[in-house]
Amino acid sequence: MSTTNEPGRSRQRDVYVAGMRGRTPLLPTTAAALEEAAARVLPPEAFAYLAGGAGAETTGVANRRGLDRWQWVPRVMRDVASRDLSVELFGARLPAPLLLAPIGVLDLAHRDADLAVGRAASATGIPFVFSNQASVPMEDVARAMGDGPRWFQLYWSRSNGLVESFVQRAERCGCTALVVTVDTTLLGWRTRDLDLGYLPFLRGRGIANYVSDPVFMELVRSEPNSGELDEGGLPGPSVLKNAVELLRNYPGSSLRALRSGEALAAVRKFIEVYSRPNLNWSDLSFLRRITKLPIVLKGILHPEDARIAVDHGADGIVVSNHGGRQVDGAASAIDQLGPVVDAVEDRVPVLMDSGIRGGSDVLKALALGARAVLLGRPYAYGLAVGGEAGVREVLANVLAEVDLTLGLLGAPSVGDLNRSFVRLDTD
Ligand code: GLV
Repeated sequence: MSTTNEPGRSRQRDVYVAGMRGRTPLLPTTAAALEEAAARVLPPEAFAYLAGGAGAETTGVANRRGLDRWQWVPRVMRDVASRDLSVELFGARLPAPLLLAPIGVLDLAHRDADLAVGRAASATGIPFVFSNQASVPMEDVARAMGDGPRWFQLYWSRSNGLVESFVQRAERCGCTALVVTVDTTLLGWRTRDLDLGYLPFLRGRGIANYVSDPVFMELVRSEPNSGELDEGGLPGPSVLKNAVELLRNYPGSSLRALRSGEALAAVRKFIEVYSRPNLNWSDLSFLRRITKLPIVLKGILHPEDARIAVDHGADGIVVSNHGGRQVDGAASAIDQLGPVVDAVEDRVPVLMDSGIRGGSDVLKALALGARAVLLGRPYAYGLAVGGEAGVREVLANVLAEVDLTLGLLGAPSVGDLNRSFVRLDTD
């Protein structure tokens, strides 16, 4: 993506020319206004799930403070008429140093969910990392994306058979890397969701990859589950409401599901197998045996963990605190990026997410050593407000800001960025 399509100037031109005709953009351009717009259109539970973090949500604040404390020191007079945003990752050239982060339960944002995001990603050539907790089975998303690049994010469940099945399906779907989330062996203490008593999975949402999986459904049918969800004679109306939502979100014939009790059994089984708290470094060899795809570990903050990960065969690292959703009071991802990059010593690419809200943030991560960055909540908010068009617009805006900021920093290509372009504001 060089001057031939100049995403920055063409986006500016489109917006201002449309403005001359009396049209303003579908979405606000600032992250804060976009979040507010999403809050206005979404039901409270949906917004809480997407926007919320762990505990007092100080990690999300730290992510932003961390990014804001790094300040640019632009260079001038350096001929930036031609700008190259592309980066190489696992043998592929990406048009920009950007991927769409895995976000579960996207149907909370919009009924078109992962399909809309996949189409928008494909239109720009930005890879979409399919969420393990997607609202739509990965095969359907892959079909909707045509040739667009995609990766798969894996939650390592209690069943290695299920892990293997997910990995094989991801390979068949054309995913070119596996992102293993290692910071969610237990679900974080999500205060907004707790206050509303709302966990989407219990309503049959965000488990599409499970109920479409033969190994998972075999587990549902063959193993009695622990009964953690037994209602114990609780009153009817709420149960009924939940069941209706559950069935609405369960693929296939809801009547059949109702008769067989399969939907409820699937939810129960999901709760049982979802995460593996005893996951440890020795487990990685299992994954290495079953796939040739690059294995990228997401959710690393400690430089020592990064070193151990590479020693155990990880092909990439995502420095991340899960957008502040797992540990309250965690270090900001951007502040851990440099130490992790130094620890990894160029042995594998380091990516970063958590707190990225615009193009300048993307480039700060690159200046501090990231190869690419994963964008999360902003695209979910764009989806909430404008469906596929909303995601496209968020992507266009972020790419435009990346392009223009890169030029204004005096860097003709993203590869030219380094720590000499930033200073840490210590005030
Ligand atoms: C699950 O992955 C979540 O962050 O909600």
